[in-house]
Parts: sequence; C-alpha cells; structure tokens
Amino acid sequence: MCGIVGYTGKNQAAPILLDGLSKLEYRGYDSAGLAVRTPDGNHEVVKAKGKLSTLSDMVDGGAALKGTCGIGHTRWATHGEPNEINAHPHYNDDKSIVAVHNGIIENYVALKDKLLKKGYTFYSKTDTEIATKLVDYYYRKWGCDPLKALVSFTLRVRGSYAFAVMFKDFPGKIYVARKDSPLIVGVSDDGAYCASDVPAILKYTREVYYLDNMQIACLEEGKATFYDVDSNVVKKRRIKIDWDVDAAEKGGYEFFMMKEIKEQPEVIKKTLGYFVKDDGIDFSEAKISDDFLKGVDRIHFVACGSAYHAGVVGKYVIEGLARVPVDVDIASEFRYRKPILGKNDLVILISQSGETADTFEALNQAKAEGIATLAIVNVHDSAIPRGSDKVIYTQAGPEISVATTKAYSAQLVVCYMLAVKLAYVRGVIDEKRYKELISELISLPSKVESVLKCEDDIKKFANGITNKHDVFFIGRGVDYAVCLEGSLKLKEITYIHSEAYAAGELKHGTISLIEKDTLVVALVTQPDLAEKTKSNLEEVKSRGAYCMCVAVKGNYDIRKDCGFTVYVPHTDSYFMPSLSVIPLQLFSYYVSLYKGLDVDKPRNLAKCVTVE
Ligand code: G6P
Repeated sequence: MCGIVGYTGKNQAAPILLDGLSKLEYRGYDSAGLAVRTPDGNHEVVKAKGKLSTLSDMVDGGAALKGTCGIGHTRWATHGEPNEINAHPHYNDDKSIVAVHNGIIENYVALKDKLLKKGYTFYSKTDTEIATKLVDYYYRKWGCDPLKALVSFTLRVRGSYAFAVMFKDFPGKIYVARKDSPLIVGVSDDGAYCASDVPAILKYTREVYYLDNMQIACLEEGKATFYDVDSNVVKKRRIKIDWDVDAAEKGGYEFFMMKEIKEQPEVIKKTLGYFVKDDGIDFSEAKISDDFLKGVDRIHFVACGSAYHAGVVGKYVIEGLARVPVDVDIASEFRYRKPILGKNDLVILISQSGETADTFEALNQAKAEGIATLAIVNVHDSAIPRGSDKVIYTQAGPEISVATTKAYSAQLVVCYMLAVKLAYVRGVIDEKRYKELISELISLPSKVESVLKCEDDIKKFANGITNKHDVFFIGRGVDYAVCLEGSLKLKEITYIHSEAYAAGELKHGTISLIEKDTLVVALVTQPDLAEKTKSNLEEVKSRGAYCMCVAVKGNYDIRKDCGFTVYVPHTDSYFMPSLSVIPLQLFSYYVSLYKGLDVDKPRNLAKCVTVE
C-alpha cells in the first residue's frame, strides 16, 4: 500500500506533489509527507498524521514550501503506528538523503543489525528508515555515486519497494528503484515525474514508462534515464496513456464513489465492446483460443474482497451455463490450503489493482505447479497481469474510491463472457442461445442505466437506516453472490455490521439474531428461486424484521411483502447481478453519506493491499 510521487522540473514541486498525492490517497491515508529541495540546497521535510488535507494546510497548499524538486508520500501503516515520526519521507542524519517508499522490506531486521553495527541510529519504527540509511551506507561506500548506491540497495534488499530518493549532492535529480510495487515514470518538456499510479501525473503528462522489477531510473527536468542492476542504460518503451484527464477527477461529484457508480453503464459497454464482435465473443486478443477453452477441465477463481465476490458470481454462471466445474477461493486461503490443481485446470486471478499481495502469491503458486493462469485485471501492466499467461483487462478506467463499484461490474461482465463462450465452444449451448445471450449482454448497459434511476427512492430509504446496528442480506443462487458484495459495501463504508447469507441457510442459526426492526435486505431476482426466498422473507418478517427487497419488474409482486422494494428490469437470470448490485451500492453510499462519513476513504482500509 502507500502511494509515492516525485517531481523535478521548472515548476514549484509542492503543489504538484500534493495534487498527485490526492489521486493516490486511495492507497492509504493515515499520514502523509513531502520533502522538497529548497533554493538554498537543503531538503525540507514536512509530515503530518491523518489525511492529506492536514499536510496541505500545513504548507498552505504547497505555497509555503519553495523548490522545484521533491518527493511525497501517502501512507497505510505497516511497520510502525501511523504518526508523524513514522510518516515518510525518511532521511539520514543530516537530511542529505531523503526517501519515500511503498512496499515492505522483508529482511529489515538483518539490515538494521548491519547498520547498527556500522554506527547508525534510528528514530522511527519503519522499514523505510532502514532502507534510506542502507542507501546512505552504500552511497558513502561507493564514493557518493547514487546509481551504485541504488544498485547495491536493489541487490541487498528482499521484499517489495517503489522507492524514490533525493541526494543533496545531486540537485534536480530524483532516483527511483522498483521491485514488486508499482512505479511509473512520466516525462514532459519541462519536468519529470514518478508515481505509484497514472492518475497522480495524468494532468501533467501522458507519456509514461513502467519501471520493471529491479530497474532504476534517474529523473531530471524533461528526461528519464533507466538502468539495470549492472548499471547499464536500458531503453524502455514509452507508453501513451489515453485516459481522459477527467477520469481521475471528481467531475462535480461530492465523492468518487458516486461518480464511479454512475460510470457503470459506460464501463460495462466498453468492457463488452473489447470482446463482443459481430459474430460472437472473441478472446483472441487475450490469447484465449477456442481450443484452449475446450480443453479446460476445471476453473479456480482466486481473488480477495469484491473481486472474490465477482468470482462467486462467476462460479454460478460458468457452472450453470457451461457446465465446467469451478472453485472459488479467497487468495489468502488458496495459498495455504494445498489446493488440488489438475494439469488442464485454469487458475483465474481477479483483481482491480493487479497488485494484491495474496492474489499475486496465489498466481505464483499456480505457476510453480505449471497450471495455466488468466488474470482479469483493471490496472494495466501491474504485477498480476505481468506474471499471468493470459490477461483480460477490464475497462473500468481509474477507480479511486476505496469501495469498488465499477471495477466489480466490469469483472462481472468478463465472467459472463467467459461463461457464454465456454458454453458455446464446448457445445453446451447452441448458436441460437449463444446469440440470445450475447444480445442480452449488449443490452446490459442501458438496463443498468435504468436501474440507476432508483437513486432518489434509495436516498430517502437510506436516511432511516443510519442508526441500525446489524443488517442481513439474503438471497439464493447468484442473488446470494450479490448479497456478499452488498454486505461488504455496507460494512466497509458505513461501519454498520452486516452479514450475507444464502437465504435457505438462515434458519440454521442466524435467524436467532433477527428481532424487531432488524433490517433484512432480500434479493429476489431468480424466477425459479423466488418462491423459496419469499418464504424465507416471511420467516424473518414474522420475527419482526423490516425488509428491503430487490426484485424483477413484472416477474413477481413483492411490494406487499416488503417495507421498501426496488425493481430492476428483466434480463437473463445469470446476468442479474449487474442490475441487482446497483441498488445495494447506492444504498451503502447514502447511508454512509447520511452518517457523515468519508465515503471514499473508510477507516483502516486501503484500495490495494500489498501486504499478506
Ligand atoms: C481491498 C479493497 C477491496 C478490494 C480488495 C481486492 O481490500 O478495499 O475493495 O476488493 O482489496 O483488491 P483487488 O485490487 O485485488 O481487486
């Protein structure tokens, strides 16, 4: 976790760094800091506990910190509690070397011992201070050569890092190194930038380089030079980012989450548009041939959080439509439960960020066993797609709000497309059904658009829910899979305890928790299961529960059974999650808003979790 940014060039650095950090706050927001080289040639370091706005106020939006070369950091604490001392940047004794870091140094104990023996002392509890002092050690050892110092650093450090460092003796230069944590370098005519993610620098340049593992770069005004661990200059491909600058801005919305909820029709359309061609679903761009799909014996979805929930939907849809057996694993469990993988199995890693440590390690495990891997990822060129045999990129664009919405929706449609294609190439469905399902997929964006119209009703309903302590989500089949996601959304951004249950399972224990006015949210979108879920609703109502329901228009009249009902349009049962999740996202959003919480930055969370 954590986000880093750096700038050197003609302009004042601090406002650019603060602006960049504001786009990276999704990576962590328990403390933040800046280091800028001031006109007198010293490094001024300013750090603050809490959100970036505290730091920004301290330096008057950047105006109080003069200098044209600097680095910044927004933190999600791993080593050491979130306080000012542990906040980055970290530095050597005279602040002639200052650094920011995203990642974890695994051999920090051995490195600290080594440095203690050499007479170094430490002021913080962080691995980054150790890393910075290690650079200081090598810098002195190698005759004050920053490149040599970083080469030794790269070879000596175990773990993950995106590391940016300034040396007082080298004005106007920022050195960066990377292993397993993302780092991009951008260049404009009058500046050079580094950042953990594209949105941080999109406003200033679209020309970026993705640093590879164990590569080092030196940034100067208008220029970046790249090196390998032998200090050889390496030529790197420059990539033009075609994202709209507005994609990383709030665009008039109070929170990114609402903007991202509203972007879902477009994101679904774009993701479908990449693979749905005139004559069917074509995955050739992702190097997925029909023969490959025919030969898959079993699929293992592996993911975390909402991406895992997309995998649960994928299981129902792929098993139901294509009759291919599917397992779904939480990545941190997959790694240690010794899964049985067959040689013709396919491990599918789902991840918005492409960085999640548990998912990445699960990928490595599958690869070590020689099993084919497919990544469904949103962030281009991140660690998981880089390491996977095949990649399908979701077309959600930058997602900033910690609680995912549009990336989850994009993951769902990729799962549907895989299911439909698998079913067709394996002869489980005929051409007619194949075409029907494709035309149903194509109609999803406009149906999602129409579900979004329920916003006002949900807003009113959510206002009365802010004092609830427990909420239960129930559903059957894919409705249950969506309940998992609805419940996670609610708890992560409203801090209301919630649980998702397969509706039929409620009676085996959880029903004892239902009392007068407990809110039960029921999803009833599956025609063949509706009667059963309705009975479960009766069971909770007779014990005093108050119910919100998501049902299909015209299918089933549920209004009389519920305090509040949202109707979604008809689509194929398998694709219902794309519609039924929308009211649940809006519901969580408004409850969080009415509770006066920071919807985009819920406490203790970060958007990408690069620790185990
Ligand atoms: C974090 C986020 C979740 C996300 C999960 C997996 O916990 O808060 O919203 O679903 O990580 O992230 P990924 O980037 O792998 O999809």
